[in-house]
Amino acid sequence: MLSKRALNLKPSPTLQLVVRAKELAAKGNDVISLSVGEPDWQTYEAPTAAGIKAIKEGFSKYTAANGIPELREAIVQQLKKEHNFDYTANQVTVGTGAKFVLFAAFQMICDEHDEVIIPSPYWVSYPVMVELASGKPITVECGKDVNFKITPQKLEAAITNKTKAFVFSSPSNPTGLAYTKDELKALAEVFKKHPKIVIITDDIYNHLMLNGQIIAPHILEIAPELKSRTLIVNGVSKSYAMTGWRIGWAVGPTELIKAISDYQSQATSSASSISQKAALEAIKNCDADIVKSNKLLLERLTNALTAFEKIPLVKASKPDGAFYIWLDITKTFGKKFEDTTIQNSRDFAGILLDKYFVATVPGLEFGTEGYIRISFAIETPRMMEAIHRIEKLISKLS
Ligand SMILES: Cc1ncc(COP(=O)(O)O)c(C=O)c1O
Repeated sequence: MLSKRALNLKPSPTLQLVVRAKELAAKGNDVISLSVGEPDWQTYEAPTAAGIKAIKEGFSKYTAANGIPELREAIVQQLKKEHNFDYTANQVTVGTGAKFVLFAAFQMICDEHDEVIIPSPYWVSYPVMVELASGKPITVECGKDVNFKITPQKLEAAITNKTKAFVFSSPSNPTGLAYTKDELKALAEVFKKHPKIVIITDDIYNHLMLNGQIIAPHILEIAPELKSRTLIVNGVSKSYAMTGWRIGWAVGPTELIKAISDYQSQATSSASSISQKAALEAIKNCDADIVKSNKLLLERLTNALTAFEKIPLVKASKPDGAFYIWLDITKTFGKKFEDTTIQNSRDFAGILLDKYFVATVPGLEFGTEGYIRISFAIETPRMMEAIHRIEKLISKLS
């Protein structure tokens, strides 16, 4: 019954872990989930009220495939305010979450065998999305020695005459690290030499900054000449705690935006009308809420980092943003837990979940071995309990 595409499709590893964690919880175990990729706080007051108002006022029909004009205009204004970028509303398309917008973008960018360069560790969905668009993901290993960020040398080495696009997130999922202006400038120099490459910037975490910056630096601030082939992707999921509302968008060259919008018109018709009204309110009126959330995240992060410092064999480094700690567990490899020798991050995360009921995501899922991703979008007492359990696991290793 199934197509080759279906047979080759890998389900999201993060969602599989959630299922396993839920099974353990259903059996009565006290499972702590550090694996989820979403804020644990509620959607802010203003967008919630706007959503309710939209329902009550009967704003319940299809919208234009590229989204309601006022939301597209608000996105344009936000980019102007935060980065001083100049776009028009017809260079914006709103879709069903940044994930679907990225999916549609790869469908519209890739022909068969076109290569898309993806720095590793990467967000789990990029390679699969590229494959589903018949493209070829070219993952570039960016380890600890380069602080998990692609360097101009590595980028240059990965480029071939089949390279069609480059995609990255800053701050990154899974490391939380953000590219500095200098790092972006160096990458921009490489892109300038290769004028056909489309650059996709996934800015979904760019407001959740924990390093003193208000917003993550953007490559177009440093190299505006790349604008005609850069696609900016963002959404309300993370910054405004609106993962379930499913609103994301792309901003970029008119031709590409129109193609993505036409694709959306055939695939989903439009994003939810109600959610679009809520997203509009979020973008316009929630700056103060984000400041509060970042303060809370920073407190939680500081507590977690202090607790991790006391645990041997693991090392937590401070992220620039998002809500992930990329925990170095390489020193546990080769050690024994009961009868099992820990050989990789899947083994470590498996023991941690099955024996100590703490769900994390093994680094292998993000293409990089030696780490687990821990979400600190969780209340501090629960986080402390989880770290205590990690400590117990470590103390049992021989
Ligand atoms: C790097 C990255 N990009 C995009 C997304 C998708 O966000 P959305 O909820 O808008 O689809 C996520 C969500 O986990 C993410 O981590």
